[in-house]
Amino acid sequence: MRTAKDYIIFPLDVPSAAEAKTLVTLLSGEVGMFKVGLELFIEAGPEIVRFIRSEGARVFLDLKLHDIPATVSRAMRRVADLDVDFATVHCGESRGMLDAAVAGSGGKVGVLGVTVLTSVTPRDIAEAGFEAGFAADVTRLVMRRAAMARDAGCVGIVCSGREAAAVKAAFGKDFLAVTPGIRPADGASDDQRRVTTPADAVAVGADYLVIGRPIRDAADPREAARRIGREISAALASSACG
Ligand code: C5P
Repeated sequence: MRTAKDYIIFPLDVPSAAEAKTLVTLLSGEVGMFKVGLELFIEAGPEIVRFIRSEGARVFLDLKLHDIPATVSRAMRRVADLDVDFATVHCGESRGMLDAAVAGSGGKVGVLGVTVLTSVTPRDIAEAGFEAGFAADVTRLVMRRAAMARDAGCVGIVCSGREAAAVKAAFGKDFLAVTPGIRPADGASDDQRRVTTPADAVAVGADYLVIGRPIRDAADPREAARRIGREISAALASSACG
């Protein structure tokens, strides 16, 4: 049985290994997985991955690969040797890029396809030249990209909580929906646009919630993580009853 902690992925969006390590030590009782993104990986490299592992937590290496298939495959081969649980590739370019990511992973890391970033709005989609139907209904674009990711053999996708129900209904419970853009009901949305609360994300079937600034920037990050954990536990309990 998964607990609230298993749902929370905390992004280590900090510029130094020292700050990252402090946060891992502080939060590893409340957070099951830590996300290492470009900022920290450029600074701290594979050593920070080994540190997180040594603290008994899981690792999501979020490098959001986006390149020609040969380059993506070669990069994913290096990622596969780092002993991480998940790694990301963008779905927006081509099926070939997704196939290459999955081939490079060699089954040693779960590849997640990034569908439409949670900071993206319908207007951004229209400006990027997509047909009007995709801008009017972002879920359509997410679903198109999720289908590519599923067909390529990705273990799941990154999408907003607003799209998670449609993804789970179409692709089944084993195809993971990882949802950033999570904000407690009274929280600031920052640069995120397609946001959901922790409880809503869990209620619609999200498997993992990426929750950064509401924890990192809180006066007491551990208490903020605990509060979010309680909200997730309550949502899990009411889903089980319903
Ligand atoms: O909760 P907060 O907005 O701080 O989370 C930001 C984190 O979520 C960043 O690390 C960002 O890379 C990640 N992310 C995102 N949207 C996506 C995928 C990842 O915001 N679609």
